[in-house]
Amino acid sequence: MKIAVIGTGYVGLVTAAGLAEFGHTVIGTDKDTAKIDLISRGSSPIYEPELDDLLKKNLAGGNLSFTSDVDAAIREAGVIFVCVGTPQDENGRADMSQIEGVARSIARNLNGYKVVVEKSTVPVKTSEWIKRVIGLYRRGDTPFDVASNPEFLREGSAVPDFLEPDRIIVGVETDRARDTLVKIYEKFRDRILVTNIDTAELIKHASNSFLALKISYINMIADLCDRTDADVEKVAQGMGLDPRIGRQFLKAGLGYGGSCFPKDIQALMKIGEDLGVDVGLLREADGVNRARTGLFLDKVKKALWILKNKRIAVLGLAFKPETDDIREASSIRIIRELVKEGATLRLYDPKAMENMKEIFPPSPQVDYCMEPYQAVQDANAILVVTEWEEFRALDLARVRELMANPIIVDGRNMFDPAPVRKLGFEYYSVGRK
Ligand code: UGA
Repeated sequence: MKIAVIGTGYVGLVTAAGLAEFGHTVIGTDKDTAKIDLISRGSSPIYEPELDDLLKKNLAGGNLSFTSDVDAAIREAGVIFVCVGTPQDENGRADMSQIEGVARSIARNLNGYKVVVEKSTVPVKTSEWIKRVIGLYRRGDTPFDVASNPEFLREGSAVPDFLEPDRIIVGVETDRARDTLVKIYEKFRDRILVTNIDTAELIKHASNSFLALKISYINMIADLCDRTDADVEKVAQGMGLDPRIGRQFLKAGLGYGGSCFPKDIQALMKIGEDLGVDVGLLREADGVNRARTGLFLDKVKKALWILKNKRIAVLGLAFKPETDDIREASSIRIIRELVKEGATLRLYDPKAMENMKEIFPPSPQVDYCMEPYQAVQDANAILVVTEWEEFRALDLARVRELMANPIIVDGRNMFDPAPVRKLGFEYYSVGRK
């Protein structure tokens, strides 16, 4: 069975390499020729642990290839995974124009029965539009099926997430499509949940929004902890011991960013509004998340009072560790505010600095540093914005010596307050004294 994967973003690239690793013959395709050239040489355009190796291995094995000829890839394949972007439009809805474009390409090249699989995160009912578009534009009445197989990989651990999934959701409306997808994921037969298409589409949005709710919930609890003697880390630990709640995704901090949660919770709100369902719960969670930057900056001001002409080291720019992705990263909002206030910034991130330079080019006020010790030199304060392991391993005694004022405002609760204070730092974190 030949599989075409359309789109080589995070999801498409990992899906193509992962399906090849499962033993299928896969053609990855994207209209961006420069990207295809790079990937064909076994180089991923994004930083994602293990991805380069997986690409190289399967390219060398001969069952994975990439082409910018999308039409040819569609004609050759029996199954087409649609992995193009569904970015947010100006109203907060998912912009479906790329999906529609792909559906038209599929229609034009429908030379035999094919299963068209939605892998991108799409609003419930998208499959009906895809079906309609293919039906309208195909020549003749060549049969096809649409299916939904949402992806749950996380950036930073995308490869292991894809190769060892917790669950595989297969939304179908015919036995033929079900059998095709079950065969593709044969080795995970015990983890496959077959549903109708609307259900599969909704599982993805419902999962991401639930995780976002969980994060906003613990951040609201952190606000209560900030005004009492309670410690949010301990509260989360105590809550998490109840298996009905679980320990994961109860890390208080600067809130959720990235290309998924902020966009997906907005999209689900719009879906609810369009369907006449009260989604106030999601709106509140979104509001709690948006408030994070302001509350963090209040702490910075509490420590430094006036920010003008203060030298501030910002450690971490990526929206989370182990990625170079800065989409919806809290660092962007924080840097923007600090620049407005007249602070001088020294930025450091192990992977995301090149991406950040596109938003904040180096200037007298915004300087990029080669390593963390350079960033903290003569600083009036350090702000921890992303919890890279590299920061946990810093020699804090040396850091203290290098700084002008030993102040740390930790937005990710990276450090233990007591030992840090013992070293002579003034230390502020989230929901802890
Ligand atoms: C998320 C989901 O976890 C994946 O299952 C899903 O496939 C993906 O979106 C997607 O829809 O494509 P991702 O955005 O890569 O994955 O990253 P997460 O690890 O979920 O983190 C999202 C954000 O939440 C980060 O900004 C992170 O710092 C924050 N977060 C996470 C917290 O603030 N607290 C936590 O306890 C956990």
